[in-house]
Amino acid sequence: KKVVLAYSGGLDTSVILKWLEATYGCEVVTFTADLGQGAELEEARAKAEMLGIKDIYIEDLREEFVRDYVFPMMRANALYEGLYLLGTSIARPLIAKRQIEIARETGADAVCHGATGKGNDQVRFELSYYALEPDIKVIAPWREWDLNSRTKLIEFAEQHQIPVAKDKRGEAPFSVDANLLHTSSEGKALEDPAVEAEEFVYSRTGSPEAAPDTPQFIEIGFERGDAVSLDGKALSPAELLTALNELGRIHGIGRLDLVENRFVGMKSRGIYETPGGTILLAGHRGIEQITLDRGAAHLKDELMPRYAELIYNGLWFTPEREMLQAAIDHSQRHVEGTVRLKLYKGAVHIVGRSSPKSLYSLEHVTFEEDAVYDQRDAEGFIKLNALRLRLLARRGA
Ligand code: ARG
Ligand code: SIN
Repeated sequence: KKVVLAYSGGLDTSVILKWLEATYGCEVVTFTADLGQGAELEEARAKAEMLGIKDIYIEDLREEFVRDYVFPMMRANALYEGLYLLGTSIARPLIAKRQIEIARETGADAVCHGATGKGNDQVRFELSYYALEPDIKVIAPWREWDLNSRTKLIEFAEQHQIPVAKDKRGEAPFSVDANLLHTSSEGKALEDPAVEAEEFVYSRTGSPEAAPDTPQFIEIGFERGDAVSLDGKALSPAELLTALNELGRIHGIGRLDLVENRFVGMKSRGIYETPGGTILLAGHRGIEQITLDRGAAHLKDELMPRYAELIYNGLWFTPEREMLQAAIDHSQRHVEGTVRLKLYKGAVHIVGRSSPKSLYSLEHVTFEEDAVYDQRDAEGFIKLNALRLRLLARRGA
């Protein structure tokens, strides 16, 4: 009877809106979140009003997104398949959570999203919905309707008084998803993984070749594993990521061309731009280098691929993600201090780190004479470690 639709204001979700009314005869509540995608939210409001919607939710979730989703993930140094910073994956649980909350507030019994039946996003939205509201009804139009061609979609729009901008009539060259952490582009023109993406695909980073010839040095301050300041100035999570995005844009940092394994089974090729996130990850690694014990650091690196895969597969609201998060957060108690980074032609280099909690001991590591480390201890250390190797060698292979 009533459904909360994740509404972008674009053509596809506008068609979904009218299709829901026509197919289910239900009342539609729209929810549009500002996650820093850079779209004009008031346009989504105007469009929803024009389409006759009474309950319109428009919310700025940027701080919550960075504080409660991006930062916890950064504490883990999470990368999917070694490279992907999970910019789309980490945004889905938050959108789903707000949709469920709005369903409760408005007495809606269903939620709806605009993801296709072939991708990861449907899984992420729906696993999150069910984890938070076990009896919610889920509507995924792309898996149900027959508007599978551009022509049919436009026809439907015209029949239902949905305005179609001239530049929206043709097929978009590829599919884009953006938020404060990243922009992803995939599909269509990008589907041949043998062919390099053209420069126009990149929308929020300059090319490294065109980046300034002089490096820029910045300092990021950390507390309990989270970035809290830039060049000595305290910033909120979203402000900080916004500022790093701008630096990354200028220096062409955070581009990635990846073929990845989707949860539903096939491989897909994506072009990603994660300017601020790439800088942040380097900074976080830098501060961990001096503040984390080896045992904790190595265990964390073993857990990381598991944790990243959980986020990629849409398992944010699960006991196993929360268990790993508790361990990761515990490891961050002393991860504080300042990291100095050099930004230069597409790359971030860690060039300095300092911390009141540093475990780095010059006294122990120095090549000069010292009074704390007895080099003769190393002989027994090596001998016992070599014992089994010598027994093996004696037996012969
Ligand atoms: N392949 C990436 C992921 O699964 C990006 C997905 C982009 N989503 C989109 N609706 N365009 O996280
Ligand atoms: C989609 O299929 O809706 C986008 C791609 C994905 O979810 O992986």
